[in-house]
Amino acid sequence: MEPKGDIALIGLAVMGQNLILNMNDNGFTVVAYNRTISKVDDFMNGEAKGTNIIGARSIEEMVKHLKRPRRIMMLVKAGQAVDDFIDQIIPYLEPGDIIIDGGNSLFQDSIRRTEYLNARGLLFVGTGVSGGEEGARRGPSIMPGGHPDAWPHVKDIFQAISAKVEDGSPCCDWVGNDGAGHYVKMIHNGIEYGDMQLICEAYHLMKEGLGMSADEMHEVFADWNKGELDSYLIEITRDILGFKDIDGEPLVEKILDTAGQKGTGKWTLINSAELGIPITLIGEAVYSRCISAMKEERVAASKKLRGPKPAIRNDRTKFIEDIRSALYASKIISYAQGFMLLRAAASDYGWKLKYGEIALMWRGGCIIRSQFLGKIKEAFEKRKRLPNLLLDPHFKREIRKCQRGWRNVVATAAKKGIPAPAFSTALNFFDAFRSERLPANLLQAQRDYFGAHTYERIDHERGEFFHTNWTGRGGNVSSTTYDA
Ligand code: 6PG
Repeated sequence: MEPKGDIALIGLAVMGQNLILNMNDNGFTVVAYNRTISKVDDFMNGEAKGTNIIGARSIEEMVKHLKRPRRIMMLVKAGQAVDDFIDQIIPYLEPGDIIIDGGNSLFQDSIRRTEYLNARGLLFVGTGVSGGEEGARRGPSIMPGGHPDAWPHVKDIFQAISAKVEDGSPCCDWVGNDGAGHYVKMIHNGIEYGDMQLICEAYHLMKEGLGMSADEMHEVFADWNKGELDSYLIEITRDILGFKDIDGEPLVEKILDTAGQKGTGKWTLINSAELGIPITLIGEAVYSRCISAMKEERVAASKKLRGPKPAIRNDRTKFIEDIRSALYASKIISYAQGFMLLRAAASDYGWKLKYGEIALMWRGGCIIRSQFLGKIKEAFEKRKRLPNLLLDPHFKREIRKCQRGWRNVVATAAKKGIPAPAFSTALNFFDAFRSERLPANLLQAQRDYFGAHTYERIDHERGEFFHTNWTGRGGNVSSTTYDA
């Protein structure tokens, strides 16, 4: 009997099931497998009933159903489970077969797995899949990387099931070698953290500062969603603020204010420190979640530490417009920082990343999808080697328009004692980035003073290092000069 399966999918949690149904809708025959076999039965007797989906009760059976080269996708918990499944599948495969990891895996693991499978004649694909349950079912954003020979074999399925932008372009393209797909997904998640934190700060200022109700804020977000901020996260915030609990009160106000995190934001931050790229906004977003999780300490401190009264007496309509400007300008900074990190990673890990294509992949289907990403795509299309998003004429203009309101919000938040770490760090980054001279001359002097770490001089060529005996007590021997 000729095998019929186009692809197998391991992992029948909600994302896996939805992706299978999406593939089935697009005319592909999918073989479904799960370690706990009862889940296969439940799925086959439930959502998969009456479809072309084939249920498999063992890995051997799953592989037997597949056409060659076999395509096997895993949607299992990132980490050891991925390696375990890979080792269980390998004995049933033949050279040229393809294993795809669609979970939120660490990109270094994907680099390692590409090599591991390549050494066994197999092709690995590590792909980011974004969009949550709904995205998986109706069209996610898909960011595949891995062994390039695999791409022609997975392209048709991935592009068919992915989200599409207005002109029909799929939100899925080959990102690059080995870990590039999971890297780009990690940056997506970091940016997602930043976008969410910015929205939370806007909400906090409106609620604590302006004393607005959830219904009033619902209206503001509905309005913002019609302009430049039009995006999935603004849209769901609008809906969340309008959502009532069974007693008719806004549910959002009953939710405990401690944020969880599964780790991708933290990975972005760790990687940025390794590559020396200041993604300060994502950093504040990650640490804001950490501060939020210190609930008991905060409750205790709130009884002891006093600050100003939060009420903001400014003209409400004008201040809401200022908050919108602060949100929009900070968002531009966050994406500029994210793309700076992508550029550094491309050079460090040897990937040929196409920034316009990445913006297009994020334009639809994923959690950070927005109109705004269309503008980023245009910026990179106009100038492929654009050194920084902030230098693109459109974004330069937009920041100029927002500056007054943005500064007013950061200053007011500080005066009123309302934390706005992401708005503030974005403004600080902007001011530092546009500064010809920063106070690091003094810092270099300090390093040289206490540790003979040497400095360069403005009246000499770069690369020439000097040491001064600042106290008359030290010697003239300097330490070696290197940067971590
Ligand atoms: C997506 C999301 C998805 C997941 C986040 C949640 O793109 O669909 O990013 O991958 O919901 O990783 O992350 P935290 O639990 O860390 O907030």
